[in-house]
Amino acid sequence: MEKTIGAVVLAGGKGTRMHSEEPKVLRTLLGEPMLGYVLAALAPLFEDRVHVVVGHGADKVRAVCPAGAARFAIQEPQLGTGHALQCAFPDLEQAGYGYVLVLNGDAPLVDSRTLAAFSRQALERKADMAFMSIELPDPGAYGRVARDAQGRARIVEAKDYDESLHGPAGAEVNAGVYFFSLPALRGVLHKLKNENKSGEFYITDLAELVAETGGLVVALNQGRDDNLLGINSPTELVRAEELLRERIVNAHLARGVLVRAASGARIGPKAVIEPGAELSGPCDILGATTIASGAVLEPNVWVKDSTVGPGAVIHAFSHLDGAAVGPGCRVGPYGRLRPGAVLEDGARVGNFVEMKKAVLGPGAKANHLTYLGDAEIGAGSNIGAGTITCNYDGVNKHKTVIGQRAFIGSNTALVAPVTVGADALVGAGSVITKDVADGELAVARGRQMNIRRPKKPS
Ligand code: UD1
Ligand code: CA
Repeated sequence: MEKTIGAVVLAGGKGTRMHSEEPKVLRTLLGEPMLGYVLAALAPLFEDRVHVVVGHGADKVRAVCPAGAARFAIQEPQLGTGHALQCAFPDLEQAGYGYVLVLNGDAPLVDSRTLAAFSRQALERKADMAFMSIELPDPGAYGRVARDAQGRARIVEAKDYDESLHGPAGAEVNAGVYFFSLPALRGVLHKLKNENKSGEFYITDLAELVAETGGLVVALNQGRDDNLLGINSPTELVRAEELLRERIVNAHLARGVLVRAASGARIGPKAVIEPGAELSGPCDILGATTIASGAVLEPNVWVKDSTVGPGAVIHAFSHLDGAAVGPGCRVGPYGRLRPGAVLEDGARVGNFVEMKKAVLGPGAKANHLTYLGDAEIGAGSNIGAGTITCNYDGVNKHKTVIGQRAFIGSNTALVAPVTVGADALVGAGSVITKDVADGELAVARGRQMNIRRPKKPS
């Protein structure tokens, strides 16, 4: 029987060089956490055999992993990458793997193909340990690949590198992706020491330990491969994000999406945009967003986890989060659609209109300065300027229901829970606290009195 291969992602570190309390692997590129990218690259190869070592911010890190995407090992305290692997090791033994692929959680551009090819080569070479190396003009803080008198590869961390001891440093550095046979790992993992400049247990020391016990260690040089770069600082994060951004935009362009201001379009990896859609300026299209053919997004639109139907137009400066905009709808400029906002066919939302958990039926309109929260508005209704659903009483949220073809006059306050029937008319400036039946006219405001001005005393 072929021995199975497991995968381990090292994601327990804090990421001190990011200068943030947020665990580094949760920092996002185009709206998705770094770790999400790594897990996505592993998923097709390893299915449920992915183990993630968590430590700093463990609960938060666990929470971003899709259900069933990984098993977790805890590293507490975090004593280095070698120690992180030690923490996962009992789970690897228990799972009965023959081999493991281990990778840093901070290299989000890594792809399945490269990982599969690397694992295959490591197996073909019958390596006890293999690691990927890359070539960098400036090796910076990367672990240097050094070779001993017999030509055996090992890794010396940047801080510990001493030319007089290790020879002149070349351009070849450790990419942070490793492959081990379980028996080789079992023989050496417990031998790691932290006698180095950082006082940490380095996974990289395993190369020397495996070689010392007669095992075969091979460095598989990938040349110059930006996809394997780790992210340790804001500069590196932004660089990687830009690389990814360009790649995604170009892929959409190639498929027939008109991305006009391509340099300002930030499209997340999960967004689905049909050929024939148009993005006409800088925009953010994040999360699980779908944009249909014929839809147009004007400049400076921000969209996350939303759908935009065919022929819909999202005018400039609109903000859509968890919204569903149906075919032929219009939003904005300056529209704000919060989670649960739904616009059915041909509905319209104009400037400075905010919607949350609210449905505008087909053809319904709310064109100016309005808040619709926890509301259902029937087809063809017109919501006048300045209408507010008063949905929150300080404790609970209540619903407003408006029937079809209703007309709500400007500056109306609808104090929920309240229902306005079909074909009803509400006079401008009303404060509606009682239900209005179908076809009724409701006016709830101070009656206008016109009286002659008293004469000014002369
Ligand atoms: C590491 C390598 C270095 C390599 C580089 C490639 C070591 C000692 N050095 O350095 O040779 O060139 O990656 O990018 O491994 N982590 C834990 N627990 C810890 C510490 C770190 O899980 O106690 C995790 C981090 O969350 C991160 C990964 O391990 O995802 C790598 O850690 P990081 O501190 O970024 O290592 P580098 O200094 O970049
Ligand atoms: Ca790193």
